[in-house]
Amino acid sequence: MSPFTPRVDDIYIASYPRSGTTWVQVIVYQIYNDPPYLFDHLSQVSPFLEVALRQNDDLDGLTRPRIIKTHLPQPYISRLGGKQIYVMRDGRDVLVSYYFFCKTYYGYRQSFNDFFEQFMSGRVQYGSWFQHVAAWTADPSDSTFLLRYEDLVVDINSCLDRILRFLGADVSRKEQARIIANSAFTAMRKEEHLFAPGGKNVPANSEVDGAFIRQGRIGSWKEHFSASQIQAFEEVTIKHFGNQKCHMVDDHFNCGG
Ligand code: A3P
Repeated sequence: MSPFTPRVDDIYIASYPRSGTTWVQVIVYQIYNDPPYLFDHLSQVSPFLEVALRQNDDLDGLTRPRIIKTHLPQPYISRLGGKQIYVMRDGRDVLVSYYFFCKTYYGYRQSFNDFFEQFMSGRVQYGSWFQHVAAWTADPSDSTFLLRYEDLVVDINSCLDRILRFLGADVSRKEQARIIANSAFTAMRKEEHLFAPGGKNVPANSEVDGAFIRQGRIGSWKEHFSASQIQAFEEVTIKHFGNQKCHMVDDHFNCGG
């Protein structure tokens, strides 16, 4: 594995898988780069840290600031310096999205109920969602910005404002409109091969759940969770986050934060 030399101006887009990482990478990439996209795959300009290190990719040759995707736990990343945007999403939608991702990309053949049990006990890649989110959100420093997927969906304009302020970046209103248009779900879905592992486009007429840029919805877990799964998820959430429940959003879980 090649050594990694952190830089003070590195920007990490950190998250648990399926939380909206790619979306935020595309937004931040455009803040620092004019169109058109000059890459065959997003990972060439915004590397996936764990994968890039395993492949011995040249991370020193990237232009500054580097925009680095990672799913690593908070203690590994915060010590590297730079700025971190931690993208978080309602864990129930993460679970559903991760299930379809594992089916498509890892050949997962077991049922949704089996996946539910594995996710709840952290027996999936990157371990417990609950612990991942708890560690990143417990005591964020000034160099960490917590960004909710649901806020991006509901109010992309104010999220972009907040991202720009956090990064200290200055972008004209016209440029902001372009960034938002280019990173809209339908725009990214059309260019799926630029973002998906392996660089494949899922054909437009195929089963949509096989896509990497898949549905982009809030609350689709309601179509998949049984009553007992809803209760189990709530119990484990309370165990990890107390009554704060701040990482969930809907009628029952609205912290307004
Ligand atoms: P779904 O599977 O629920 O559709 P990540 O990039 O961390 O792997 O997250 C993937 C999830 O973000 C997928 O969720 C994907 O569809 C969603 N996503 C990606 N780009 C998006 C966009 N521009 N708008 C809304 N959701 C997006």
